[in-house]
Amino acid sequence: MGNNNDIRVWGYLKEFASEKDDIMRAVESVFESGMLILGENVKAFEQEYANYCGVDYGIGCDNGTNAISLALHALNIGAGDEVITVSNTAIPTVSAIVSVGAKPVFVDIDSDTYLMDVTKVEQAITPRTRCIIPVHLFGQCVDMDTINDIAKRHHLHVIEDCAQAHGATYKGKKAGAMSDISTTSFYPTKVLGAYGDGGMMLTNSGNFDSILRRLRFYGAEKTYYASTHGYNSRLDEVQAAILRTKLRRIESYINRRREIAQIYNEQLAGTSLVLPKEASWRRHVYYLYVVRHPNRDNIIAQLKEKGIHLNISYPTPIHLMEAYNSNDYRKGALPQTEAAAHEIFSLPMYPSLTDEEVTRVVKSLKELI
Ligand SMILES: Cc1ncc(COP(=O)(O)O)c(C=O)c1O
Repeated sequence: MGNNNDIRVWGYLKEFASEKDDIMRAVESVFESGMLILGENVKAFEQEYANYCGVDYGIGCDNGTNAISLALHALNIGAGDEVITVSNTAIPTVSAIVSVGAKPVFVDIDSDTYLMDVTKVEQAITPRTRCIIPVHLFGQCVDMDTINDIAKRHHLHVIEDCAQAHGATYKGKKAGAMSDISTTSFYPTKVLGAYGDGGMMLTNSGNFDSILRRLRFYGAEKTYYASTHGYNSRLDEVQAAILRTKLRRIESYINRRREIAQIYNEQLAGTSLVLPKEASWRRHVYYLYVVRHPNRDNIIAQLKEKGIHLNISYPTPIHLMEAYNSNDYRKGALPQTEAAAHEIFSLPMYPSLTDEEVTRVVKSLKELI
């Protein structure tokens, strides 16, 4: 476990200590409301988060993985269909595609931002392609104008996976406001994190809104009557109440993340570490502060000895994992993705990290590189 002086890559206990009164009041208000499932808090949070993102409808659900599966179901994507995405992402982006019976088709990433290389998307389209899932990875948006232009020309749907990009923007638009249906996760580590699991789907279409509402609730439109086959994928009322209190603070979380990134940027400039690049027209929210170095594994091991814990997101590209590898994607198929997987790692990043802790991380890194 290490000791109290250790610097974790992520932690919520300091944040909880400072927000405890609000969080506990929110939990208590749910318990006292007499309504534990799909009550006033889920309803209010759906609208409040949709407003924050500049989207008409928000549909809460149980996690970010099922949000993607339900979005694919709502778009009638399933067996025999292909969905274009990246291999450099969290497992759930891909597991959701496979869960609905569709085939993930991977394109390589841009070596500067580690995001989907939008110049590679068009050549991955086949007659079976139905959808593109750009992943706004690490806190930064994919070039959505290009994605939407390709989608329009080829009559494809787009689902933004925004699990790592709450509050990120692209040309003034929030992540989640630039596709048919977007999905997000409120997993505790996220920029807007619950105290347990949670997720949401966002859309500007009233039709998709009502389909998604049915899909997350046994396919039911009214009590005890299913009009379509559905699932149980509800957002919990307690998590919704907590998320409402945290949503009021989201801009301060993002500002603090950007402040920490700025300290890292300034103090690590000129070292042999490759620092993250904020692409033009975008606000990076630094869900993760991802750096790159050929000697990564040694750096991680040495800093661990000093009580500083770093993380690798992600050490194995999904197309090379046992669960998802296939004859289509042998080693070497996605060169930028595979090269990055050997060298990238993330530094501690969360709003309650102090300047002193950030400086300690920098100092220890500089002694090594
Ligand atoms: C990019 C991405 N997509 C999807 C998910 C799935 O979210 P959840 O863990 O809430 O199912 C995550 C979170 O882990 C993620 O990082």
